[in-house]
Order: sequence, then structure tokens, then C-alpha cells
Amino acid sequence: MSTSSPKSVHRRRLLQVGAAGIVLASGGVYAGTRLLSGSPTAAGDGTARAATSQTAPSGRVVTRELRAAPTTVDLGGRSVETWAYDDAVPGKEIRVTAGDELRVRLTNDLPVDTTIHWHGIALPQEMDGVPGLNQDPVAPGGTFDYSFVVPDPGTYWFHPHVGVQLDTGLQAPLIVEDPAEPGDYDEEVVLVLDDWTDGWSDSPDTILERMAREGMDMGGMSMGGMEGMEGMDHGGMSMDDAMPSPQAPLGADSGDVIYPGHVVNGRLATNPFVINSAPGRRIRLRLINSGGDTAYRFAVGDHRITVTHTDGFPVEPVEVDTLIIGMGERYDVVITTGDGVFPIVAAPEGKDAAPGRALLRTGTGATPDPTALPTEMSGQMLTYSALSPAAEVAFETRQPDRELDVVLEMIDGGRKWFINGAGFGDHDPLQISAGERVRLNLRNESMMFHPMHIHGHTFALAGQNGTGIRKDTVNVLPMETVSVDLQADNPGDWAVHCHNIYHAELGMQTVLSYAP
Ligand code: C2O
Ligand code: CU
Repeated sequence: MSTSSPKSVHRRRLLQVGAAGIVLASGGVYAGTRLLSGSPTAAGDGTARAATSQTAPSGRVVTRELRAAPTTVDLGGRSVETWAYDDAVPGKEIRVTAGDELRVRLTNDLPVDTTIHWHGIALPQEMDGVPGLNQDPVAPGGTFDYSFVVPDPGTYWFHPHVGVQLDTGLQAPLIVEDPAEPGDYDEEVVLVLDDWTDGWSDSPDTILERMAREGMDMGGMSMGGMEGMEGMDHGGMSMDDAMPSPQAPLGADSGDVIYPGHVVNGRLATNPFVINSAPGRRIRLRLINSGGDTAYRFAVGDHRITVTHTDGFPVEPVEVDTLIIGMGERYDVVITTGDGVFPIVAAPEGKDAAPGRALLRTGTGATPDPTALPTEMSGQMLTYSALSPAAEVAFETRQPDRELDVVLEMIDGGRKWFINGAGFGDHDPLQISAGERVRLNLRNESMMFHPMHIHGHTFALAGQNGTGIRKDTVNVLPMETVSVDLQADNPGDWAVHCHNIYHAELGMQTVLSYAP
């Protein structure tokens, strides 16, 4: 459980955030951005659909109450004390239709501050949930009312934006239905993939504290698939060994935390979540990686998967055997069910651990062994470059008005992770202006991959490997540069960070800020 929080780290973080917030708030930035509240509009410059322009407000209001509190949950044979929304892991999904206004009252019954971030949603910035930047943290016993129009259909999720709380049970899907859904499927199932330690092994706060102290030398940390090289620090590993390869597409070190469990919809492989269906059905699976430090390799035994959406936005459908989903990413895929009992597997990429698994049951047959990996896992793997955006969400070609570098670095043996030479709180924000087409060059100068996330916008992959697919979180591989284009149509101050929650808390966060 997370009560052993290292207050020093937590406080320092809040102070840093607070300081950044004060700088940004001076000069009326906050006042200016409130103009957009509740009614996001397009940039109006004739570019193709901006992130905030897809759906007109429906006039409908969806209301929910959420209580964040300590609780005990059953992961399927293993009970753990953790923090969760309304005692469920993952929390009960929120489902709206694009254009609806969502009103959520958060009650904080945790012993510490919290907030909610609505990951991937292009909402008004004061609803975005980053303490010190977008709102004051919600104190223990306090409440906060979130309300915003949800502009874009797709698969989203929400989690706290304080410390490493998202590595507890505090996370849940936010599904936004499309009023114009072509609906080429018979049923749909949301699958939340998560790495679990809270209440079982070390708490997330303990892990963070140890990482800040020991970095890559942290006892008990894996070298991410390099167990055979124990005792060797990064200096002893050749660059070639560490770089991405067909066997290790994210590079040799894809995560540093050893989780005792990997769960799908809050359940371990030994007592899994089961989809009961029938043969010949088209099932849309909405995949969400809510993990703190684990990418998952996903496959369904004896099935091909057709990828239809990245981070909520449609792509031209592509059929593959398997895909890797980084922390914070979402994919929607469609399968056509066979007859029998099939494993749905989320194997922790580059980690030597029992995979997360759900089951698909459409007929009779033996339940496959919980640790069995379907052969699809080593079959044809999805790449970003194989995907292109659906026409209706493709950005119009336009030269960037502004290009900004976002350099990602490991500092001090992994005790810190920096952006552009500084940790969070020590940055000047990345400055942009409303109406611009902005290109961010995400330059990874480290030997780990970073799932980089930008708040408030869904960007398009650009440049060399860029096909224009829309995403809000993108895996940037070791030593790789990924360029992303965004349409500056949602004024405010927006967090930009690595969705490895430990990297983020050790400094790998900055702010994208609109000039007033
Ligand atoms: Cu899902 Cu700033 O994060
Ligand atoms: Cu990272």
C-alpha cells in the first residue's frame, strides 16, 4: 500500500510544480485560457479537423461521482490493499457519446492529495488535472468538480496526475462512442492491461524512492531482459546489444521495475477475465495500457487482429498477428472469433514474468496453460509506419510554423530523467502560439524507450517515419527521433511527459505553453 510515501520526494515535486505554475500563471495566462472553457472550437484556419472540432456539443450531460480511497481488491486469487476508484480495479468505465458534457465529482478519501487527468481528451486546460499547472491538488477529504464537453470519439482513460499514484489501482477507462459509428462489429470489450506491485511487493512510492537513490544500480531491478548480464552496468553493455532488434523491438532495457503480477481487467492469468461469446463474431477489443513501467506484447491465440484505431483515432485497418502497446497508449482491434477457448495475452515486453491474460471462450475446449504464449506473439508485428490515418482525421499537409526539440536523456545513472537538459520544474515552457502548426522533434538520446505523451492534443506522426496517424502517446525508441505535428487549437498550459511514471517523476516532464 502507498502509505509509506516518501514525503520528501512528494513535497519537492509539488513545490517544483507550484513554482512552474506561478511563473506560467503570471501575465494572465490562466484568465486568457478560460475563454475556451466548455466550448472548444477549431482553429478556424481551414486545416482539416482539429482535435477539438470533431463533434458539436450534443446538449446531453453525463454525471458521475468518483471516490478515490484505500481499499482491498481481489486480483483473482490474490487480495491486495491498494487505492482505487469506488473500490474497483480498474475503476468502473465511464461511457459517453462524443459531444456530451461529462460532469464528474471527485471525492478524495485518500490520505494524500490527488487529481484526475483525462488522458487523451482535448478538453479545456483547467480540467486537465495537472496540479500546480491546471488546478490545485484536491486535498484529503476534499472534492473537485470536473466538467467538460468530450469532443472526440475513441478509447481513453483516466488516472491521477500526482506522484506515482497511477501505479496503484487508480485508473479506469473512458469510452467515447461515435454518434456516426460505422459499427462494423458485433460486440466490444475493453481490456485494461496493467503491471501490479501495490499491496503485494514494494509500493510505487518505495520503488520511486529507491530509483531516485540508486538509479540503474537499484537492487532487485531487472536489466529488462538482460538477466544473464547481472552485475553489469550500462557501461558494460555494448550499444549494439542495447539497441532495438527484431527480438527486442523496444531495445534491451524496456523497463526497470519487477512487478509480481500482470493483470488484464484487474485479474491475474490464473483466474482470468473471460469473454464469453460465439464463433464467427466480430469483437472490437479496446486495449488500454495503464501500466507504470511495462509495455505489453499483445496477441490472441489462433486469431489475427485488425487494428482500427490508435489512441482513439481511426486508421486504415491493418491486419497483424501481434502488437506492442506502450504505457498510456491505446489500440482498438477487431477479431473474428474462432470456435473454442483461446488465450488473450499481454506479455510484459522485455521482462521475464508471467504474462497477463484474459480468455476468449466461444465453444468447448481445454483452458490453455496460463503461461503459454500464443505463436502469434512471434508473428507479424504492427509498426507505426504500417498505419495510415483514416481520411477524416488526417491533418491537411502544412509546413510547420514552428519546430521545437524535445531531447530525452538519462542523467546520473537513471536517478534522473531530463528533457532539454533539465528536470521538471526547472524548465522554460515550450512556447507556441494559437493557430500554429507545431512540430515537436522528440529526440531520444538514451538507451531506453520513452512513451511520450502530450496533453490536450492528439498529434500526427510526422517526418521520416511519419504516416500522419493520430496519437497522443508515442513510443520513442532508444536513440530515435520521432517528429509529431500538432495543430495549436487548444490554448493553455499542457503537460508533456514520459508515460513511464517513474521517468516522469524523476524529471521527464515539461510544459507546452501557448503565448497569451
Ligand atoms: Cu496519462 Cu500526463 O498522463
Ligand atoms: Cu521514459
